[in-house]
Amino acid sequence: MSQEDLFGNVVSKDALSPTAALQQYQSLKELFEATKDCQKCKLGKTRKNYVFGEGTEQAKLVVVGEAPGADEDETGRPFVGRSGELLNKILSSVKFERSDVYICNIVKSRPPQNRNPEPDEIEACLPYLLRQIELIRPKMILALGKVAANTLLENNLSMTAMRGKVHRWKSIDVVATYHPAALLRNPNWKKLCWEDVQMMRRHYDEKYGGG
Ligand code: URA
Repeated sequence: MSQEDLFGNVVSKDALSPTAALQQYQSLKELFEATKDCQKCKLGKTRKNYVFGEGTEQAKLVVVGEAPGADEDETGRPFVGRSGELLNKILSSVKFERSDVYICNIVKSRPPQNRNPEPDEIEACLPYLLRQIELIRPKMILALGKVAANTLLENNLSMTAMRGKVHRWKSIDVVATYHPAALLRNPNWKKLCWEDVQMMRRHYDEKYGGG
């Protein structure tokens, strides 16, 4: 059996696409069940809970953060701590509610002491995110922070260079902005983030008819 993946490639289960081995999982629930005990990287040993992501499979907007923090590790849910509260406010300022979107992270297990995820951890976990995105087929992605944006856009640019515009990535429009945790540390960046999400909303309404 073959089918098309996120990259427009026709893949079979044995093909080299990052998601090829995951093509057999046809829903987020199936993908979650298949991956929830993952031990492909060292974070598997230290996490309390696997934080897969949450929201509707019909989401037109997927929000991608960096990695679970302590609150997320405790609960198994993404963005439920202070960053999550701020994210909810950011989303509702442009008329998206958590129930409209899908929220997940680059890696699904908490890095110790909230350090950045390491390249081998990202590499191990990324196929799961790519398969989530394939299953959801969103119109837009909001990448929160440099780690998320660099990983998805496959670059090493600064946030200053990436924010303020719409990137095209594998047929999906991507907007990058500051991570809510960075905004809590640097409130001066809130205005720039606000401009980014306003721009994202305008683009979404113009291109995808709102809703
Ligand atoms: N920070 C993230 O990047 N993701 C979460 O889920 C929580 C905090």
